[in-house]
Amino acid sequence: MASPSYLSVKDLTAPQTLEVLQLAGQLKREVRAGTPHPRLAGRTLAMIFQKPSLRTRVSFEVGMTQLGGHAIYLGPSDIKLGERETVEDIALTISRMCDVIMARVFGHDSVAGLAQHATVPVINALSDREHPCQILADLQTIQERKGRFEGIKAVFVGDGNNVAQSFLYGGALLGMSVTVACPRGYEPLAEIVTDATAMGRRTGAAIAVSNDLMAACRGADVLYTDVWASMGQEAEAAKRKHDFSGWQIDAALMAVAKPDATILHCLPAHYGEEIDYAASRTPNSAIFDQAENRLHAQKALMLHLMGA
Ligand code: CP
Ligand code: NVA
Repeated sequence: MASPSYLSVKDLTAPQTLEVLQLAGQLKREVRAGTPHPRLAGRTLAMIFQKPSLRTRVSFEVGMTQLGGHAIYLGPSDIKLGERETVEDIALTISRMCDVIMARVFGHDSVAGLAQHATVPVINALSDREHPCQILADLQTIQERKGRFEGIKAVFVGDGNNVAQSFLYGGALLGMSVTVACPRGYEPLAEIVTDATAMGRRTGAAIAVSNDLMAACRGADVLYTDVWASMGQEAEAAKRKHDFSGWQIDAALMAVAKPDATILHCLPAHYGEEIDYAASRTPNSAIFDQAENRLHAQKALMLHLMGA
């Protein structure tokens, strides 16, 4: 029997998302105060990685430790998802021993297949389509900095990638307007833009795609960016460097946004490409808050999905 999974930002309703964010805030205060909260004692998280990671691995592993549970790292050479054995058999086997699975994969169908066959919750820790855990942490960060989502104007600058696509859904879900500003040819999937636009109509979020960087960023409350070439796109890196030239968060772009605009980057960053190093170190930058909030948001997510 399938358990509730989190493959997309859309897999939680707006009230559920706000509940998880509230719990994330509470867990953050408990960590700060040194209050133990072993709510997953005796439980085990299986972490499947087809790609490298710093934040995702550390935040999930530390999160399980803080919750009194245990995490097992299964790297690219350990289980060889879909090569050594099928996604179905991996899901069924892990479900017999572990209580929750997180997977970072290339094709979204791999994490969807795990969720289809597992009898424990499956969490998408980045696929080619979405990075929902990142966006949960980003929403927590925006809430901390801005105190609200409604009326906020956020712009994602650069590639219309997995992070951009989840960000569109995050804004649409909670009533925050999101524009993806990207060079022609690097737009997010049309089906996701259409879907997020319809969701946004119900919540008051304006969802848009623009090829005009400066116009899109004028008056923005939040400027968000990510690398020009994602993991798995290494062969396109040179072409992308050319195509994305100038698509950078820097002082000139910050000058057209609101003076208190929050700067976001999911990291890892390529300084001098999608973001200027100096811009990333201004008081406006919340990039390391985002990184820390991965810990709190994902702990809250696991507790929600596991009903603990
Ligand atoms: N932002 C993020 O997911 O970082 P890692 O790739 O280091 O996990
Ligand atoms: N878009 C990037 C995000 C890394 C956290 C990638 O997929 O590589």
